[in-house]
Amino acid sequence: MKSWKVALLPALANTRLTVALDNGVGLKPHMGWSSWNVAQCNAASARYALATADKFISLGLKDLGYEYINIDDCWSTKSRDSSGRLVPDPAKWPNGIKAVTDRIHSMGLKFGLYGCAGDKTCAGYPGNEGHERGDVDQLVSWGVDFWKYDNCYTPCRQNPRPQTCTSPAGSTKTWYAPMRDAILGVQNTKKLHFNLCNWGRDEVWTWGASYGHSWRYVVIAHHQHPLPRLTDSRMSVDNWGDWASVERIGNAAAGIYQYSAPGGFNDLDMLYLGSSKLNTNQEKLHFGLWAITKSPLVLGLDLEKISNSTLDIIRNKGLIDINQDSLGKAATTFRPPGAPAPVNGKIYPYWAGPLSDGVVVGLCAGTSAGTYSVNFKDVPGLGGSGSYEWREMYTGQTGKGTSASFNIGLHDMRVIKVMKV
Ligand code: GAL
Repeated sequence: MKSWKVALLPALANTRLTVALDNGVGLKPHMGWSSWNVAQCNAASARYALATADKFISLGLKDLGYEYINIDDCWSTKSRDSSGRLVPDPAKWPNGIKAVTDRIHSMGLKFGLYGCAGDKTCAGYPGNEGHERGDVDQLVSWGVDFWKYDNCYTPCRQNPRPQTCTSPAGSTKTWYAPMRDAILGVQNTKKLHFNLCNWGRDEVWTWGASYGHSWRYVVIAHHQHPLPRLTDSRMSVDNWGDWASVERIGNAAAGIYQYSAPGGFNDLDMLYLGSSKLNTNQEKLHFGLWAITKSPLVLGLDLEKISNSTLDIIRNKGLIDINQDSLGKAATTFRPPGAPAPVNGKIYPYWAGPLSDGVVVGLCAGTSAGTYSVNFKDVPGLGGSGSYEWREMYTGQTGKGTSASFNIGLHDMRVIKVMKV
């Protein structure tokens, strides 16, 4: 079994993923908002969706590329109607879903919904198993653009099915395939983004691109029993919004950097900024690391309550441009001469990845404040002689020469774009 050691970048590999749902969406990591971290089931409503869409405009987020308003679990009633159709909960969607998607589309934004590969969603609402094509037709009729697909109450060796089934291993593809095929069947009428939320089971990063456009490789949730073993290479627990989650997920991202390309991205889970569990430095590192590893940037916070410092971070155009670079290649760690060895579970200081017009270098003060320097000749993709120009995204500092150096506070990050001149 492989372990989640911090991977050291061997070379800036030029991987191409086989993309099955090659329908023109998901060519860049998707950007948007999701209801789940905001107020779980209570946020799965038209009120939240429309208020968030308004904030996307008034806060300038739409202009920066934030696009998807995604409603998570609990949007339907607890049972299907007599024709087997899903019913939007009338208390949460008084005018139905289509009225909301129409309004969101008229604002130039997109709308996402949530489903599940089992017979119930994780929160116990109707799942999609056995109803895949009919449900996709319904999504298309409502104008839905994005479909997150969860992994609860799936076929299992245990009876009755538990919410989280761990056996047989290796089987999640079986229940993601019918939904992928249903989406393929409607591609002429609607181009859906298919987000696999199978919690990293069965090394989804190795096959996710042939099933969907993005895949969650981390498990969420307090409600899962037993909690996944942290030593199990196939999964880790979800972003709980605390610093330990950022360390755990950020560290693991280094090991799967090669599974990132236009049409298929590792989804490091929703951004947990604005919850007061992270201080400003930690929020900067969280956002910066998700950006350079080409994770989708999906805000998991209530935009009506966002602070100015969090707003500054999520509106950092330089970082967003790096995340949205057309190459779609994730950064990972590299070890300059004399640098300490990586410590498993801790954020390594030195990161780099290719951009279409340069290289991004991330410097993370993951374990101690101090001076962090980088000689550009040590950075994969920048070797050889020559001089360089650089710009730092959080401070706006610029420079020329062969190296750059920064004083970085504990848990803060600097992200520089370096170009050879
Ligand atoms: C979890 C998933 C979360 C959220 C939740 C809803 O399985 O990881 O992101 O969707 O279910 O019940």
